[in-house]
Amino acid sequence: MKHLLGVKDLTPQTIKDILKEAFYFKQLVEKKDSRLKKLLAEQVVANVFFEPSTRTRISFEIAAKKLGASVINVLESASSLDKGETVFDTLLNLEAMGVDLFIIRHSESGMPHYLSRYLKTPILNAGDGSHEHPTQALLDLMTIVEHKKNLKGLKLVIVGDILHSRVARSNIFCLSKLGVRVTLCTFPTLIPKGFSELDLEISYNLQAAVRDADVIMVLRLQKERHQQNDIPSIKEYIKYFQLNTSLKFPSNALIMHPGPVNRNVEMSDDLYSHSQSVVLSQVRNGLPMRMALISIFLQNRFLTHKGKVS
Ligand code: CP
Repeated sequence: MKHLLGVKDLTPQTIKDILKEAFYFKQLVEKKDSRLKKLLAEQVVANVFFEPSTRTRISFEIAAKKLGASVINVLESASSLDKGETVFDTLLNLEAMGVDLFIIRHSESGMPHYLSRYLKTPILNAGDGSHEHPTQALLDLMTIVEHKKNLKGLKLVIVGDILHSRVARSNIFCLSKLGVRVTLCTFPTLIPKGFSELDLEISYNLQAAVRDADVIMVLRLQKERHQQNDIPSIKEYIKYFQLNTSLKFPSNALIMHPGPVNRNVEMSDDLYSHSQSVVLSQVRNGLPMRMALISIFLQNRFLTHKGKVS
């Protein structure tokens, strides 16, 4: 495994190995371990983002810098992409300059997979279209494990714009592999074709779905990707699928959201900072998880066991 393109391709054991590595990095960061800064000195990481990002791009940048690597940010508007150069040629030129690792976000599903066929440099997928967002799913897993310890049999309810969500896809693949039972809850128009054949439940009733949930993962309504008939209206979406405190859910259920949050649309304002909300824990765990992934894919090894990446 030279690249991290999606969670779908990872074995349960590899997911567990990555998780262990991320917890190790979390400890090193908390202890301000001086070895961190020397780990990837002289290495160059390129953050190549063709879509806006706050959490993913910045946490990858902080993660790489904490490991001693240099980071360059390639933005479409400030590069020769703006003059018509292709994505492929841009990366080929960056590779020729000695970039050691690419972090790529692109609006086209499959773009990192396409590039990985031609580039020698490892690629970490930072989100491709509506396809996958593997690093988000792995940091979500880390956050759930911190609170729930045993994953087998847990009920995860994913609420919202599943059709357009790469986060939903990666989480479904990741958590199902580890024994979590997944329920999707949204309008029928926001369930992707083919998902009814997967080993998961589908519900159109939010109260029924969350009543016995262990984890409730709320997704952003991605208005920028919507077609005309995806939802009847925002008002109706809020009426049927907004997570808010009028709903009954267990007092130990985790409330998650990958961000960015549209407050008072998919989730009521008061739930963002609710005692059961782990939204900012997800963001905090993004740092050690991405440090672990940068280290694993740049060095082709785990620090917490002897195996190579497989
Ligand atoms: N969760 C997430 O991918 O957020 P950003 O779009 O801000 O990176």
